[in-house]
Amino acid sequence: MQQVRAVVARAQGAPVEIAMINVPDPGPGEAVVKVLTCGVCHTDLHYREGGINDEFPFLLGHEASGIVESVGPDVTGVAPGDFVVLNWRAVCGECRACKRGDLHYCFATHNAKQKMTLADGPDAGTELSPALGIGAFAEKTLVAAGQCTKVDPAARPAAVGLLGCGVMAGIGAAINTGAVGRGRSIAVIGCGGVGVAAVAGAALAGASPIIAVDIDARKLERAKAMGATHTVDSSVTDPVEEIKRICAETYDGADGADVVVEAVGRPETWKQAFYARDLAGTLVLVGVPTPDMKVPDIPLIDVFGRGGALKSSWYGDCLPSRDFPMLVDLYLQGRLDLDAFVSEEIGLGDVEAAFARMHGGDVLRSVVVL
Ligand code: APR
Ligand code: ZN
Ligand code: ZN
Repeated sequence: MQQVRAVVARAQGAPVEIAMINVPDPGPGEAVVKVLTCGVCHTDLHYREGGINDEFPFLLGHEASGIVESVGPDVTGVAPGDFVVLNWRAVCGECRACKRGDLHYCFATHNAKQKMTLADGPDAGTELSPALGIGAFAEKTLVAAGQCTKVDPAARPAAVGLLGCGVMAGIGAAINTGAVGRGRSIAVIGCGGVGVAAVAGAALAGASPIIAVDIDARKLERAKAMGATHTVDSSVTDPVEEIKRICAETYDGADGADVVVEAVGRPETWKQAFYARDLAGTLVLVGVPTPDMKVPDIPLIDVFGRGGALKSSWYGDCLPSRDFPMLVDLYLQGRLDLDAFVSEEIGLGDVEAAFARMHGGDVLRSVVVL
């Protein structure tokens, strides 16, 4: 057991604070990771606002890179000294989804069995709930060994750590869930961190055209830099008509994009995505809706008539062991600009301020560097 500094959300709505926490020595199947970097994600804010569950106190942070410090007795996949990106889908290999080959749908993903606890204050000893089973706004954290994916240590930690959540979600929405590639068109509605990653993924896969849609001109500029071939400001232009027009310019007879990624998480934009698809096109929902949102009122005949697929993309339907090392290699080859996602490097004490900046629109990702 050791004590380290960490960012904790003690109660719903209260600002996060730095606290000392106890990190147990790794047991069977576990690893202790010395955290190098951890990005600030919307989900961390949702935890602290009570939007996910009420199991306070939370140990926030889940988009991280680090060095394995120690591993439990039976761990063979990673070893002390390994440079790793953490993931929140450590697949079990044994559930029904894993057995049928759909590992990205694993129903029984692994987390550390032991609990980290608060080390000081009146509630010392209270068990912490780590965000997405990680909890990496901390000098060290305890995870399941399967949550550690070894990647090339030549990579910049702050950049590749982002593959742990939002950037993987976006890239994977385009290349795994949407399966875009050469000869296929894609539109991405909402170009925040997730959407712009979908644009970058589509560019990697060779899709064309790549149409970025947002209501904020600054987001569209950034999407262009990441590989968008066209941009549509949907606060002034009907995005459905414009996507159809652009796709028809490239592909004779196209009535929309082969793949439309919805990266906002709202019924209105989902509806736009639904109608902006070509016949038999794929709609990929990666933006996370709130529980009260409903599928928009769309005539069933339109669902029947357009065909295709209406999908959601969970963590970019990624397999960390396959996708993280591949994307890190592409980054090191200069083919995927992960540095562009790092808007600022901040300290452990700056997380609350980063939450405030998140909605300003200037920041793609604030990354805590330890
Ligand atoms: N049409 C188009 N774009 C919109 C609209 C709209 N009606 N409303 C908002 N947007 C844009 C914003 O301008 C912003 O660029 O959607 C983008 C949302 O980006 P962020 O707030 O940065 O969120 P991001 O981190 O990209 O996540 C997007 O995916 O993982 C989920 O919880 C996350 O639901 C969120 C979504
Ligand atoms: Zn499984
Ligand atoms: Zn996240």
